[in-house]
Amino acid sequence: MSDAIDLAALPQDFRWGTATSAYQIEGAVAEDGRSPSIWDTFSHTPGKIDNDDHGDTACDHYHRWRDDIALMNRLGVNAYRLSIAWPRVMPEGDGQVNPKGLDFYDELIDGLLAAGITPSVTLYHWDLPQTLQDRGGWPERETAEHFAAYASVVAERLGDRVSHWATLNEPLCSAWIGHLEGKMAPGLTDLTAAVRASYHLLLGHGLAAQAIRAVTSGAEVGIVNNLSTVFPASDSPEDQAAARRHDGHVNRWWLDPVHGRGFPADMREVYGVDLPERPGDLDTIAAPLDWLGLNYYFPATVADDPDGPVPHARSVRRPDVPRTGMDWEIDASGIETLLLRLTHEYGARKLYVTENGSAFPDTVGPDGTVDDPERRDYLVGHLAACASAARKGAPLAGYFAWSLLDNFEWAYGYAKRFGLVHVDYATQARTIKTSGRGYAEIVRAHGELGRGTA
Ligand code: FCB
Repeated sequence: MSDAIDLAALPQDFRWGTATSAYQIEGAVAEDGRSPSIWDTFSHTPGKIDNDDHGDTACDHYHRWRDDIALMNRLGVNAYRLSIAWPRVMPEGDGQVNPKGLDFYDELIDGLLAAGITPSVTLYHWDLPQTLQDRGGWPERETAEHFAAYASVVAERLGDRVSHWATLNEPLCSAWIGHLEGKMAPGLTDLTAAVRASYHLLLGHGLAAQAIRAVTSGAEVGIVNNLSTVFPASDSPEDQAAARRHDGHVNRWWLDPVHGRGFPADMREVYGVDLPERPGDLDTIAAPLDWLGLNYYFPATVADDPDGPVPHARSVRRPDVPRTGMDWEIDASGIETLLLRLTHEYGARKLYVTENGSAFPDTVGPDGTVDDPERRDYLVGHLAACASAARKGAPLAGYFAWSLLDNFEWAYGYAKRFGLVHVDYATQARTIKTSGRGYAEIVRAHGELGRGTA
């Protein structure tokens, strides 16, 4: 299976990892001083989540993290991307630090290092303390400032052992899906709030990058974006312009400012919302990046939609295209295209695929195994495309499969399973799937290449 991947194109010290996020796996939402986040509020609002699922228990990782590290060892991975729950560390959002919250991550980091696994820590994977939402949330500037203060506290405590930091995970989802489409917390449908949130998220990224660097030495700081390849539904000038707007909305709005290019002028016009700019902000947002994280799931094909919501580009369903259980198109070439775009258009110095994966409706077979050939194929196909990008010059330093475990898939609840490891939510039993074993084989084959034994 690993034959399909040009493993020799990947550096010997490649980070082979899996990824998770706090709210999706931890559970223990009211333990040891954690306060509610906007996702507790949203998921407990009837009708927001499929089956009215919520993260109260999730994968119970808060209590089972030692077992989960053992699972990572069984997969043979050498890296793990996790996120820190802000409401555990600073239950009020600002001010008072909760020692027990920090202790949890402190022990987890020690456990990972003892198991030979390098942690990659994301500071914000969408779980804003509800108290800060009550004070206005990301549309308000002070949230960015509080984020930097929280980042400083975490970096100060863990920075002697963690060097790999991501400020934000997918700010696009926080801003556009959370504040414009209303399908994620905090569930708003307000363009002005969304644009202001996008601005303050990126400002928070820049301020947090400064804060991490101020209290640690040798930190490698990056940001994680979910990007899409974008295609016009036809050759018409209207559809081509729509594709350009969609690209602006999902890609350029998030990439240009952190690369010192400011916010794209065409999109400022499309949104028509004044940015809450202050002198110096753009420089803060463009803090030098040690690395860039790409989360890739699917491509987009769009048509002009003048009467639809911004960016007036309607997604078009292409017939006869293979899809995952999320109904997302499968197109591995997109990950290669994006890695090369980040390399050539944005001059990325170091790239990580910080998430990539697929959901399928897995079941445990009568013999206790979970056979998921579609996920294995998705994984192999996308890894082959990553290796091809590396061969063509993309400075790809690692790949984190989404996800280690089946988990709480946001608005879709527990019905969508992305794990390399199956979770039986009734018993919390974990079972490594065929895809997980396949991943282990790929990681092993790459290691053997380095030792000259392949
Ligand atoms: C990404 C999220 C991650 C997970 C995957 C499927 O957008 O960052 O938490 O839900 O999608």
